[in-house]
Amino acid sequence: MSPKSTKFGIIGLGLMGREFAGSVARWCHLRNHPLIPKIVAVCDSNPALFPWYVDHFASVRQQTTDYRLLLENPDVEAVFCAVPHHLHQEIYCATIDAGKHLMGEKPFGIDRTANERILESLHRNPHCFVRCTSEFPFFPAVQRLCDTLQAGRLGRIIEVNAGFKHSSDLDPNKPINWKRRIETNGKYGCMGDLGMHVCHVPFRAGWQIENVRALLSNIVKERPDSDGNRVPCETWDNAVLLCEARQEADSPDTFPLTLKMQRIAPGEKNSWYLEILGTRGGARFSTKNPKRLELLDYAGGEQSWQSFDMGHETAYTTHTGAIFEFGFSDSILQMWAAYLAEYSGEKPLKKFATCVTPAETALSHILFTAALQSHQAKQTAILNA
Ligand SMILES: NC(=O)c1ccc[n+]([C@@H]2O[C@H](COP(=O)([O-])OP(=O)(O)OC[C@H]3O[C@@H](n4cnc5c(N)ncnc54)[C@H](O)[C@@H]3O)[C@@H](O)[C@H]2O)c1
Repeated sequence: MSPKSTKFGIIGLGLMGREFAGSVARWCHLRNHPLIPKIVAVCDSNPALFPWYVDHFASVRQQTTDYRLLLENPDVEAVFCAVPHHLHQEIYCATIDAGKHLMGEKPFGIDRTANERILESLHRNPHCFVRCTSEFPFFPAVQRLCDTLQAGRLGRIIEVNAGFKHSSDLDPNKPINWKRRIETNGKYGCMGDLGMHVCHVPFRAGWQIENVRALLSNIVKERPDSDGNRVPCETWDNAVLLCEARQEADSPDTFPLTLKMQRIAPGEKNSWYLEILGTRGGARFSTKNPKRLELLDYAGGEQSWQSFDMGHETAYTTHTGAIFEFGFSDSILQMWAAYLAEYSGEKPLKKFATCVTPAETALSHILFTAALQSHQAKQTAILNA
């Protein structure tokens, strides 16, 4: 029997809208997936973006600059929404209140209040399947790292370091865009932009963050606008969050969890990394060497890190041979495979091979709000659920 299809509308046709569309175009790469996404409607305030979608997807029947018209379309069953952060609350709430299923981009609300409003819409419409994006855990090396963690092979956690580092903003002449303005990106700055990526595995692992001391930096304070005038650039470029965490709520001990989100990290193009050190071993990975997984097993005696080359050994199997390399667009395909498998009613393949839940987005807002308070007060902030 051929798989069923789900009809999607996309709101926000920029960078991430096109990444989703790219995954839809190569959906046949997945083996035995229960659902096929079909793009039937597209919406952007900039109509110049329509032709690319219409030219590549014969299934598109509706093009509109008004997201309300897309939500009124009875053909649209699910929506991918990839718009600037100040629009998340309005459009995510409208999508859920229209009874559509939603994959929303992070940070899932420009601030904690917006996030709470989105979760209230979901509470009113529990039949809607709603998730938030985050693709890096789908790298095969991260999947195996998380299997190792879940199997308890690392022992009691001593320390965790996770982060996401960019460096393109090192150039002070890079023009300002919505991601560098408080009114459109939000007060979280780089935490709103990069933070969900860094928090996904720690939150899914169930680590309980009790408090945070945050150091936030605004390094480039002015940038050129589209007319070449230098205008204020007030968003935080870099964030270092030193958190005190517990492995489980009732664990007697805490451990340091350092989360770095940096848009100005010289030498780093797009490095997502995770390092976990425990009493029985260690595990580390960075997208800087996207195949390499390093594991340390400690059972007494010598300690030595082993390095593994991971191929295309994905959670959701594809037609690509297991020896071949895995990359960013593969992680997006895996993330969408996870979204649609769960949407179709399938049990998640693994704990760490599913998308961010709305409850996890709420945790991120609690953390980032506390981080803003910590930086301002120059003190440790207690996380307040
Ligand atoms: N998961 C990831 O790796 C990742 C990467 C980059 C961005 N993002 C997130 O994706 C979202 C979008 O970012 P992007 O990089 O795609 O931005 P983008 O600027 O490339 O695209 C956003 C689009 O939204 C459109 N838009 C603005 N107002 C609109 C409205 N009222 N109605 C309809 N469309 C409107 C813009 O015209 C633009 O085309 C953000 O939440 C961002 O944080 C995620």
